[in-house]
Amino acid sequence: MRSLVSKAFTPRRVAAMEDQVRALAVGHLDTALERGTFDFVADFAGLLPMDVISEMIGVPPAERPEVRRLADLLVHRDPDLFDIPPAGKEAALNLAGYFADMVRSRRSVPRDDLTSALLEADVDGDRLSDDEVISFLFLMSVAGNETTTKLLANAWYWAWRFPDERAKVFAAAGRVPEWVEETLRFDTSTQMLLRVTTGELSLHDTVVPDGARVLLLVGSANRDERVFPHPDRYDLDRDTSKLVSFGSGRHFCLGAALARLEARVGLRQLVDRVADYDIDAEGATRVHSINVRGFAALPTTVTRR
Ligand code: HEM
Repeated sequence: MRSLVSKAFTPRRVAAMEDQVRALAVGHLDTALERGTFDFVADFAGLLPMDVISEMIGVPPAERPEVRRLADLLVHRDPDLFDIPPAGKEAALNLAGYFADMVRSRRSVPRDDLTSALLEADVDGDRLSDDEVISFLFLMSVAGNETTTKLLANAWYWAWRFPDERAKVFAAAGRVPEWVEETLRFDTSTQMLLRVTTGELSLHDTVVPDGARVLLLVGSANRDERVFPHPDRYDLDRDTSKLVSFGSGRHFCLGAALARLEARVGLRQLVDRVADYDIDAEGATRVHSINVRGFAALPTTVTRR
């Protein structure tokens, strides 16, 4: 399945989306910057990733707010609640229903989108079933949506908290990629991954038995002082090449190149058009999730260049 869908995510395919991503980013930023004071999440970071995915898989603009609402509701957890709330389950079913309709309609009338391509794809005689395509669309709208939203707002927030680092990138827009990478390392949106061992293994003098559930703390690995000197420092000058925010190995994030492109293009627009900005810390709220770190709201005021 991964080999089928990975064709849509090759570095070349992703790079070719740059103009499209920029147009989507500019559309939201024009409105937000015009107002001067806006919510960085609701008015920008929460919109761009879903727009990009929607363009890829073929969700028409008029239906995007509803798909975004369902995808957000699906991962929302109130404080102290560890179970999936009824509203989350209902959102999951509605989203799956929406994608089931979409798959049905592409089966009869294919279009120039990833959903149609997946339905038609053939690798060594292997084809994806409708259910597999529906699950994949579901995965995309969750995996590719809020992670990138969080990355954008985390970058905005930490650069605000560390004015010296902000000055580096606002003085030299070419440093936006370093801003993105250091944010991924310092405060990654996906904090942990789960694995089940398929054999006994020994890690750091501890024997982990076969069949054990292991929680991998990605956020912690990104602050391993053996790899990143002074790990608690947010520092755009550091070497971030060993960050593990996108996982590693065979499940390495399929959307890593796309997430990086979105963050670079979006933040570059901001650096080019904004002289400086402030965040209303009182109004900033975090999402409640065990795994995902980032902001639900980030009120901000910009001074334009
Ligand atoms: C900052 C943004 C993102 C972060 C931090 C992130 C993080 C991750 C991580 C850590 C994994 C590995 C999961 C594991 O090993 O269990 C993963 C897998 C995945 N990601 Fe992302 N991701 C991001 C953006 C995206 C985007 C934009 C897309 C798609 C458009 C995407 C699609 C996927 C998919 C399909 C997988 C599953 C790959 C597999 O299991 O083979 N991600 N992501």
